[in-house]
Amino acid sequence: MTSATVDDSAGVGYWYPSAGSRKRKMTQFNEAELTAAVIKSFENTPDPRVKFLLEELVKSLHEYVRRTDLTFEEWEYAIDFLTRTGQKCTPIRQEFILLSDVLGVSMLVDAVNHRERQGATETTVLGPFYVGEHKQMPHGTDITPHNVTGEKMFVQGRVSDLTGKPLAGVPVDVWHADDAGFYDSQKPSYAVEGPSSRARFTTDNDGRFFFRTILPCSYPIPTDGPVGEMIVQTRRHPMRPAHVHFLVNAKGYEPLITHVFIGGDKYLDSDVVFGVKDELVANVERRTDPTTPDGKPAVPPWHLMTYEFRLRRGGGAAPKPMAARVTEDA
Ligand code: BEZ
Ligand code: FE
Repeated sequence: MTSATVDDSAGVGYWYPSAGSRKRKMTQFNEAELTAAVIKSFENTPDPRVKFLLEELVKSLHEYVRRTDLTFEEWEYAIDFLTRTGQKCTPIRQEFILLSDVLGVSMLVDAVNHRERQGATETTVLGPFYVGEHKQMPHGTDITPHNVTGEKMFVQGRVSDLTGKPLAGVPVDVWHADDAGFYDSQKPSYAVEGPSSRARFTTDNDGRFFFRTILPCSYPIPTDGPVGEMIVQTRRHPMRPAHVHFLVNAKGYEPLITHVFIGGDKYLDSDVVFGVKDELVANVERRTDPTTPDGKPAVPPWHLMTYEFRLRRGGGAAPKPMAARVTEDA
């Protein structure tokens, strides 16, 4: 083995081999000293933010172990749980996002990053189903495949700045589950048929966009993986209230990641991912008129969702859909 050059001037007791000898330098730590030593081990990290994040992570993890008197069995279970969480991930399935969501971490990240909204539309979780291609579609398109049943819904949105000025030419990505509660990427047909019940619309000169779809229903998050196992074992229900996802991404404005929830859903008060905010619950009207707002014939009854999205100035990159169609990867 060649000599390893480790600067131990800090004297924290790194173990390292030296040329021609098997000399060991060790320091024995008690519980509190161990935390300090690990934190010190990051002292030469060039990026101050990375250094800070690692130090705080170690402090929180060590504190958790001390506070809970974590047993070897529990530690092994945690390692196995995280291993299985990783193994469940594919290019179109993200079990770690799901874990973050059900533990409330996603909504906490959302909260600390939106402490001052200044009247902008409320945000919520991205979720694990922002997947595949969001095809640009003309206003009025029905985004559901013909074999999807369910009551029809007409969705009309408007995108404006904080003063109400319409924002034109803004891409708006939409996606939602089918009437059985499944996203396209959860179904075997996705590999062949590609995206459905998802699309991109671009706002017109009045900041408006509209499309047709079905009234979504409440649905369970995937329960066939380790996250679902945790939900079952902790006697939580796995349900999300019915909603449509929107990602509004205007140049010069903060990307808006949100949902519009269907008013009256029975899971609004107990969303498994803690994502509901009052302002995001829409009064979706049941209509019997023979035409939709764009003047096209409608078969009653149908539903009307209307929502105004207000953006605030800012930057930041919007997330990209998780993967292109699986067939494109082959
Ligand atoms: C969703 O709304 O698509 C979702 C969000 C978080 C976890 C699971 C699903
Ligand atoms: Fe969803």
